Amino acid sequence: VVPALSLREFRTPDQWAAAAQRLLPHHIWTYISGGAFDELCLRRNRWAFEQLALRPGYPREAAPVDLTTTVLGSEISLPVMLSPASQQINVHPDAEAATARGAGDAGTLMIVPFSVGERLERTAEAATGPLWLNVYHDNRGKTQAMVERAAAAGYRALCVTADNPMPFLKEGDRRAWYLMQFQEVRFALHEDPFPDLTMPMRALTWDELAWFREITSLPIVLKGIVTAEDAHLAVEHGVDAVFVSNHGGRMIDAQLATIEVLPEVVDAVAGRAEVYLDSGIRRGTDAVKALALGARAVGIGRPWYWGLALGGSDGVRTVLEQLREEVAAALRYCGCSTLTDIDRRAVTTVQRTPAAL
Ligand SMILES: Cc1cc2nc3c(=O)[nH]c(=O)nc-3n(C[C@H](O)[C@H](O)[C@H](O)COP(=O)(O)O)c2cc1C
Repeated sequence: VVPALSLREFRTPDQWAAAAQRLLPHHIWTYISGGAFDELCLRRNRWAFEQLALRPGYPREAAPVDLTTTVLGSEISLPVMLSPASQQINVHPDAEAATARGAGDAGTLMIVPFSVGERLERTAEAATGPLWLNVYHDNRGKTQAMVERAAAAGYRALCVTADNPMPFLKEGDRRAWYLMQFQEVRFALHEDPFPDLTMPMRALTWDELAWFREITSLPIVLKGIVTAEDAHLAVEHGVDAVFVSNHGGRMIDAQLATIEVLPEVVDAVAGRAEVYLDSGIRRGTDAVKALALGARAVGIGRPWYWGLALGGSDGVRTVLEQLREEVAAALRYCGCSTLTDIDRRAVTTVQRTPAAL
């Protein structure tokens, strides 16, 4: 773990990633960083952000920039949340507890993953900010027990992953996964004493989602929606938020970037649910592009994971603080001082990239 002072030496996403890569065993690094198949979607997520440009606006009144917003009623001090990412025990001994503290100390929210090194109750005890629980649906009995435990432990919403319809390993992970079995990896599903070594298998159907609505009064976020059709169905089935995500390019390779599909999802939802986006957010300007196109907040995955690996809760907090500065600067340059000031006029598609670039 890198001392807190030197954490601030990492400024760019590439510096964080390179330092994490140096620190971690190769197969763990592969598991975190890789995408599916040829990594087309992983690259497209970045490429698509690069095709959009902000439209600055000056001069404007120099009011201090206010980044606070709410997500399903929870106040967060910047519009960047921690998307759920499993296996944190592989990169830091304090795992989810450290991540939860880092998120809370930076004034934002963590979505606690389903496969963890720490029980959901213990993560809740360590947390300094709001938590949502990520759910991979299995059989109803197991899922309901988990949902009830989450509600009792103070989790404020369920984030149900939709984009994992079958067990699927990225090619790079076949070896990584194999190696992880032989490590002291406590890969479990919030169970004690960690009996379950497999991920849930059951595909989520719209009927099962309707059942979720029956068993809990917690708000439901549906994560992994990338088309207008599914966004429409999600709202019809009573979800409170649609999370536009392609799992950071980790699921099926041949698909568009999330920032490309965001406008159609926002239009289909038509204000009936909150909309968030993740997959490829690396800079404050990326976040502002997504907010301009209608996301209420964004999520990051790999960037906070690098922070966790390098500095536990301090690392997670430092990554978030850097993003906070960048989001505030991007808003200010677009002539906005609050998140409600920003709309589609703030972004434009690049028509022609100069050859020199
Ligand atoms: C190591 C790792 C594990 C992940 N595990 C989960 C998970 O358990 N559930 C889930 O819905 N998404 C999972 N994701 C996807 C993230 O929630 C998120 O959608 C993605 O990382 C966002 O893209 P980014 O990494 O480019 O920010 C995981 C991502 C990573 C990098």
